[in-house]
Amino acid sequence: MFGKTTFGVGALIACAAAQSAPGFPISAAQSLTVVYGNNTVSPPGELIPRPETAQSPRFSSSTWTSGAPGVLLMVDLDVPRNGTRVQLLHWLASNVTIGSNNALNVPVGQVPYLQPSPPVGDVPHAYTFIVFPQPANFSIPEQYANLTQNRVGFNTSKFVADAGLGQAIAANYIRVQNLTGAATTTFPPARPTASNAPNASAPATFPGAAQPLIVGGVTFWAGVATAMLAGVAAVAL
Ligand SMILES: *[C@@H]1O[C@H](CO)[C@@H](O)[C@H](O)[C@H]1NC(C)=O
Ligand SMILES: *[C@@H]1O[C@H](CO)[C@@H](O)[C@H](O)[C@H]1NC(C)=O
Ligand SMILES: *[C@@H]1O[C@H](CO)[C@@H](O)[C@H](O)[C@H]1NC(C)=O
Ligand SMILES: *[C@@H]1O[C@H](CO)[C@@H](O)[C@H](O)[C@H]1NC(C)=O
Ligand SMILES: *[C@@H]1O[C@H](CO)[C@@H](O)[C@H](O)[C@H]1NC(C)=O
Ligand SMILES: *[C@@H]1O[C@H](CO)[C@@H](O)[C@H](O)[C@H]1NC(C)=O
Ligand SMILES: *[C@@H]1O[C@H](CO)[C@@H](O)[C@H](O)[C@H]1NC(C)=O
Ligand SMILES: *[C@@H]1O[C@H](CO)[C@@H](O)[C@H](O)[C@H]1NC(C)=O
Repeated sequence: MFGKTTFGVGALIACAAAQSAPGFPISAAQSLTVVYGNNTVSPPGELIPRPETAQSPRFSSSTWTSGAPGVLLMVDLDVPRNGTRVQLLHWLASNVTIGSNNALNVPVGQVPYLQPSPPVGDVPHAYTFIVFPQPANFSIPEQYANLTQNRVGFNTSKFVADAGLGQAIAANYIRVQNLTGAATTTFPPARPTASNAPNASAPATFPGAAQPLIVGGVTFWAGVATAMLAGVAAVAL
């Protein structure tokens, strides 16, 4: 929970591929520090109780020293659609800067933060946070003009290529699962890489897992209803 591990070279190499979620199409050599409330995400892929994710996390990086801005993506790899698992874009923000205290300043962004909401009874969903150097004169390509209304079916590798983003600076990921009731539907199989991940499909227990949802959740969905246009089911994020 609180590990700010200083990796030796060997450990760094061993962990290099582990900073984005298993199966995420892009890896980053360095770990991005992600903090939800008081909780510094550790190890990568820590299972976070959904109520703790209502507010967007804070980030820091001890390795990003460039004064140039960055582009942040947050992507769920595990959204069940049409009998398979597709990606969903939870956040896209450019002009991310890093302060002298290594904390990232993240604007609301072109596609605002959307809280993880995996459906009841599904496997944990993996949410990757990844930061890229922002190309000079960066803008969102024209074909992504309505991305906030088209979050489901996002294709990270295609977007990264289309937007001219280069080698990622740093990444990390969390997992969120909803075990507050019985599944009301059947789900497609977990991604193979996800089910091979440590404990990815094991029953999760964490403080608050069985607590009734606070009013904030309802308020939240009302608040994003206008952004979540047709085709995006509220229970499948
Ligand atoms: C975070 O820590 C502060 C100080 O210990 C405490 O007052 C607060 O309740 C904690 N917040 C959460 C969400 O745990
Ligand atoms: C970044 O911020 C600058 C200064 O506010 C602004 O001119 C520019 O349009 C922004 N670019 C992006 C891609 O957000
Ligand atoms: C950025 O845009 C300006 C104005 O269009 C142009 O003069 C400049 O060459 C561009 N810089 C890069 C690196 O593309
Ligand atoms: C974005 O939405 C507007 C209004 O619905 C539409 O006219 C436009 O074609 C859309 N653009 C893209 C790239 O989908
Ligand atoms: C699911 O299938 C329908 C019908 O073929 C298609 O219109 C839709 O785009 C698909 N959704 C995703 C997320 O692939
Ligand atoms: C993403 O786009 C690439 C082309 O850039 C394509 O090869 C790949 O199959 C797409 N992935 C998904 C999951 O649709
Ligand atoms: C996986 O589960 C086992 C047994 O429940 C536990 O000891 C271990 O710490 C877990 N590993 C991770 C990475 O959560
Ligand atoms: C679990 O999902 C149900 C149905 O969407 C929702 O009502 C509930 O608030 C969720 N609970 C948590 C902890 O995510």
